[in-house]
Amino acid sequence: MAILDLMEVRISAIFLLGSSFLSCFSGLVLSAIVRLDSIEIYKTHEILKSVKPKVYFSCKGENKTDLPDVKKSHELYKFKGEESWQPLTELPDKKCKRCGFYEKDVFKSDDVFDEWEFCPSDFTSDGKYIRFKDNEVNATFSCPKCTPSSTGSNSASDSHKGRKGMHVALIILISALISTVLILGLIAAYKYWQKKKREQDQARFLKLFEEGDDIEDELGLGI
Ligand SMILES: *[C@@H]1O[C@H](CO)[C@@H](O)[C@H](O)[C@H]1NC(C)=O
Ligand SMILES: *[C@@H]1O[C@H](CO)[C@@H](O)[C@H](O)[C@H]1NC(C)=O
Repeated sequence: MAILDLMEVRISAIFLLGSSFLSCFSGLVLSAIVRLDSIEIYKTHEILKSVKPKVYFSCKGENKTDLPDVKKSHELYKFKGEESWQPLTELPDKKCKRCGFYEKDVFKSDDVFDEWEFCPSDFTSDGKYIRFKDNEVNATFSCPKCTPSSTGSNSASDSHKGRKGMHVALIILISALISTVLILGLIAAYKYWQKKKREQDQARFLKLFEEGDDIEDELGLGI
C-alpha cells in the first residue's frame, strides 16, 4: 500500500534526524581544552642545587610544553591561562591520556615528578582538577568543557551532565510522541478512507442492482 510505504519512509526519516542530532551534539564536546592554573614543585631532581630545573609537561605522543617560569621548589606559580604555552593540552571526550610533569636532564633520562592517566572525567563540575603527589608536585588544572563521570562519587558535579542528558531525553521523547501521533493519525486516515471507499462501493453496487431491476421492469413491460 502506498500509504504504508509513506509511513515507513516517515519513520526512517525521524530516526535519521534523531541520530544525526545526537552525533552533532556529541561533536560539540568532542575534545576539551585544558589549562594549567597553578603549579608548585616540592623538590628539584638536580644534584647541584644551584642548577635551575627545566620543568615541562607532556602527554604521550605529543610535544613537550616547557614551563619556563617554574624555577624554584616550594613556590606556588599561578597562571592566568593566557601564557604563550597555554593551553596545556586537549583531552578527547571520554578518553584518558597518559601525561606528566618532568624535569629535563642533560646526562641521563628525564626525571619524573608525576605521570598519570589524565581523564576528562577527573574534573569537577566547575571544571577544576588538582593533581597532588606527595613530595613531588601539586598542580591545578581547569577545563570548563570536561565533564565529571556519571559514576563518580561527586554528586554535585553530576547535576550538570544530568541536565544535559535530560535535555536530550526530552527531545527524544517529544519526537517519539510527535511521530506516534503522526503514525496514529495516518492509520486513522487510512482506515477512514477504506471505510468510505467500501461504503461508496456498496452504494454503487446497490444502485447498479436497482438500475438492473428497472431495466428488467422496463424489459418486462416492453415484452
Ligand atoms: C609539535 O612541534 C612541531 C615542531 O615545533 C610542530 O610542527 C607540530 O605541529 C607540533 N605538534 C603538535 C601536535 O602540536
Ligand atoms: C595544591 O594547590 C592548590 C592551589 O594552590 C591548593 O588549594 C591545595 O590545597 C594544594 N594541595 C596540597 C595538598 O597542598
